[in-house]
Amino acid sequence: MKKKKKISSKGKSKKNTKAKYKKRNKHSLLIFIILIVVLFTLAYAAFYYYQKHKYVFELFDGVNVELNTEVNSADYIKKIENATVTYNSVDTSTIGDKKIEYIVKDKLFKKEHKYYLTIKVTDDTAPVIEGKDSVTIYKNSKIDLNSYIKVSDNYDKDLNITHEGEVDTSKNGTYKVKYTVTDSSGNSSTKTITFTVKDKPIYEPVTLENGTVGTTSKGYKIENKNGATYINGIIIANKSYPLSSNYGNGLTKEVNNAFNEMKAAAASVGIDLYIGSGFRSYNTQKSIYNSYVKRDGKSKADTYSARPGYSEHQTGLAMDICSHNLEKSCVNSRFNNTEPANWLSQNAHLYGFILRYPSGKTGETGYIYESWHYRYVGKELATILYNGGNWITLENYLGITSKYAD
Ligand code: DAL
Ligand code: ZN
Repeated sequence: MKKKKKISSKGKSKKNTKAKYKKRNKHSLLIFIILIVVLFTLAYAAFYYYQKHKYVFELFDGVNVELNTEVNSADYIKKIENATVTYNSVDTSTIGDKKIEYIVKDKLFKKEHKYYLTIKVTDDTAPVIEGKDSVTIYKNSKIDLNSYIKVSDNYDKDLNITHEGEVDTSKNGTYKVKYTVTDSSGNSSTKTITFTVKDKPIYEPVTLENGTVGTTSKGYKIENKNGATYINGIIIANKSYPLSSNYGNGLTKEVNNAFNEMKAAAASVGIDLYIGSGFRSYNTQKSIYNSYVKRDGKSKADTYSARPGYSEHQTGLAMDICSHNLEKSCVNSRFNNTEPANWLSQNAHLYGFILRYPSGKTGETGYIYESWHYRYVGKELATILYNGGNWITLENYLGITSKYAD
């Protein structure tokens, strides 16, 4: 019985030890699990905290900016979180790549990170071409095609100018020239100008400036006033002294009155006078003269017709006198030595008129004899110039010439 009891207690302690082990293992596992859970929780908390507080910084890319645009480097930040940033500004006054440096300060780790962005400053504005759409140039003149346009650009100073088409100034006609102006960025503009080549006019309108011009060979003062030349107070329009192209607006009242007085006197002896041609404007003279040039050529026309601006008819003081008694002899040499012509030559001075282009005085007046052309100067001077029938010219009296400059 005793033996049996012994065996039985030994078995019981073995059983106890086993149970003890089991229990301890269970504890360790529990602790391990708890530890793992704690660790995971901590790691997750740390990860969560980091996720929430980590810095984020993102920039846009492929940024293109037009020349001279005001830019703010901050505009290119796509995203910024948990950080502060400083950056430099960029100069957009020149084209090319511009680098912006962003220094990002991370709030969590208090560390600095550098980011770089390269932006492209570009010029997309085309040059501007200014100029007339059509230009008239004279035959055989030398021209510089580029002088007819003015080019400008927002950036380039030296622009590339090319043209298609030429102007042959040796031939009258119409020519088109297409200009293309390109800047260094490849932007370009075009403009077409139509050139008309024509014959150079044989006269040019003048504009007289007020002031004393000089003294004649006989000591009279030559003065420009309101578009006309006055010599010793007498308006002179001849080949040496033109009028401003806008001068004159009709026969003066004094001249009209004087003519009417003379006409009445002529009528009393059976001569019926009228004004064949009185005041002629610059433009009227221009078409008259041009038609004579066409008919007779320039040098012949210059002997009997004044160029525009040089005609005494533009003064409003001169007239071509005709007579109804002689209809076919109005303003032509058939009037010479007729009764009305002779009467005028003998009596016109009594009414203040002079025979302006007497026979044999071409060297002085610049024109051939015109028995019909009278000029009002007032009775006193007219009587002096009448000279008992041997007319003195205004040119001789004043000591002036009547010659074109060319
Ligand atoms: N016949 C004159 C000169 C004139 O044309 O004015
Ligand atoms: Zn005349």
